[in-house]
Amino acid sequence: MTRKPRFIQLHPIDDTLRLDDLLAGLMQPVASVSPKYFYDDQGSRLFDAITALDEYYPTRTEATIFGSHAPDMARRFRAHAGSGFDLIDLGAGNCAKAAALFEAFGPRRYIAVDISADFLRQSIDCLQRAHPAMDMLGIGCDFSARLELPHTLYDGPVLVFYPGSSIGNFAPPDACRLLAEARAAARGGGLLIGVDLVKDTAVLEAAYDDALGVTAAFNLNVLRHLNRVAGTDFDVSDWRHVAHFDGASSRIEMHLEARRPVTVRWSGGERRFSEGERIHTENSYKWTPTAFEALLREAGFGEVSCWMDAQGWFGVFLALPA
Ligand code: AVJ
Repeated sequence: MTRKPRFIQLHPIDDTLRLDDLLAGLMQPVASVSPKYFYDDQGSRLFDAITALDEYYPTRTEATIFGSHAPDMARRFRAHAGSGFDLIDLGAGNCAKAAALFEAFGPRRYIAVDISADFLRQSIDCLQRAHPAMDMLGIGCDFSARLELPHTLYDGPVLVFYPGSSIGNFAPPDACRLLAEARAAARGGGLLIGVDLVKDTAVLEAAYDDALGVTAAFNLNVLRHLNRVAGTDFDVSDWRHVAHFDGASSRIEMHLEARRPVTVRWSGGERRFSEGERIHTENSYKWTPTAFEALLREAGFGEVSCWMDAQGWFGVFLALPA
């Protein structure tokens, strides 16, 4: 008999607080929306479609690195933490990446954390059927401002798994804070993290502006999400997707650009945009291996190992506490 995974929602979302933040972002001189608003149910599906695109190299590159080196990574981790540990998957999404590591790592329990709670619930229900004996827990939680999971929910040591270069959404100081919080959450275990690396600008920009327009749809979908949660009246056809690499800050920036003058209204406010004006929706920082290793040390990690693909496009780091 397949067990039913447990599921909990942490800090039940305070809608008014979230909305205040969101609308304040829209009112800034340069309007911005947090990338967490990409991931409604539709957005999570569109992101899955992105990961299958020819131009979007990170997902498959990371998968080849795990495919070649997961046993080696597991050996190093177990030499440090022993063989009894929980796996905490940050931003688990469809849970496929963690599931692919079960064999090499053999965690005793799987704890999946994601902001998109309904999508996560479906994912772990499905994963539980494939692994009927494993203890699984889903946690609906937005850890972007702060990662703090109640210690009563799990035992140490933990392998904190943060794949896909989602760390790229954080500016370096915030990334450092999140890494330090991950170190604390690991309770003497370690962190296994995927990081997209600096490379040729044309390769980077194609990955965020694919020929089929899936990334454009993903970016534009944020407007529908805002209409639903904030009561705005965005018309998707007024906006176009823009993505470019900024070398000085070493990040891809995604924006939505007004195709014509637009006024967006919601209860209690409005914002006028002139033609060509933009809403900043995402930063995706790209790191060099040296700079990321230094960041891990700044966050309190000691021993750091890194595995890369042959082209050096993507890195998987295993970091153990100092
Ligand atoms: C989920 C943040 C890793 O930055 O590559 C993909 C999100 N945005 N295409 C990334 C994303 C546009 C993705 N991360």
